[in-house]
Amino acid sequence: MRDPMGESRARVTCVVNQKGGVGKTTTAVNLAASVATAEKRTLLIDMDPQGNASSGCGVRAGTRERTIYDVIIGEVSMSEVVVEATVPGLFVAPATQDLVAAELELVDDPKRALKLKEAILSVVDQFDHVFIDCPPSLGLLTVNALAAADAVLVPLQCEYYALEGLTHLMATIDRVKNGMNPSLEVEGVVLTMFDPRNNLAHQVAEEVKKHFFVFESVIPRNVRLSEAPSHGKPIILYDVSSKGAQGYLALARELLLKTERDGKRGAKRKAAAGARA
Ligand SMILES: Nc1ncnc2c1ncn2[C@@H]1O[C@H](COP(=O)(O)OP(=O)(O)O)[C@@H](O)[C@H]1O
Ligand SMILES: [Mg+2]
Repeated sequence: MRDPMGESRARVTCVVNQKGGVGKTTTAVNLAASVATAEKRTLLIDMDPQGNASSGCGVRAGTRERTIYDVIIGEVSMSEVVVEATVPGLFVAPATQDLVAAELELVDDPKRALKLKEAILSVVDQFDHVFIDCPPSLGLLTVNALAAADAVLVPLQCEYYALEGLTHLMATIDRVKNGMNPSLEVEGVVLTMFDPRNNLAHQVAEEVKKHFFVFESVIPRNVRLSEAPSHGKPIILYDVSSKGAQGYLALARELLLKTERDGKRGAKRKAAAGARA
């Protein structure tokens, strides 16, 4: 096994925003699928008990005997729950409602916030990128994701209260940085469900750019993105020519360029894979 802290280690990105309905799951699923199509081995970890990231990748509820819940409570290893998704190179660690119980079961465990970090260590040299879809809260499941991650990606819907939520989120990120995970970085903000005809959307976008790195690739409001999950498919399999698919493919390219340019971990993996072959 290669050194898990070495250059070939996956880059772990968690998709976080404590507001519901801002496009976290849509971003986690479609960004992970788009990164996988760029020939990066990609793992999507579903940390939301709603399990929407799992079903959005075609992993159905009845087929999930072991899930991320079993991993978090220490019953099984991460590799035992990972399943292949419909997109080549994309793998999913699925979640079900069971995950709700993990918070209660771990309440007396002093290392309760580090469960996901420990679990990821065993697979981190098998992937180029790991994405974590978080629930709409800043509770224990999200803190586990922040503790396990190298970077945070924040989907943001450009509406009036969007910035207010960001202040709370950044305070939580700072707390995790000052304690469990000093190297945690904010990768940037992704504008989701963007409607260019809406003046407020432009104003909010300008305001966010004063405080954060905002990806140039903006995800437009696109009905195909909202239809794809009911078919259990990421948008690139459902309608690759849609504006939504093109948005996520562009975002994946931009993210990969950014991390590779900055020399971030995960970027060297392909060369290593080639050497092994
Ligand atoms: N760019 C988009 N265009 C249209 N609908 C979208 C878009 N992004 C997300 N949606 C829809 O909005 C709803 C909330 O998105 P979701 O990704 O589940 O948010 P979250 O995970 O933050 O709660 C879902 O029904 C989803 O299909
Ligand atoms: Mg979600």
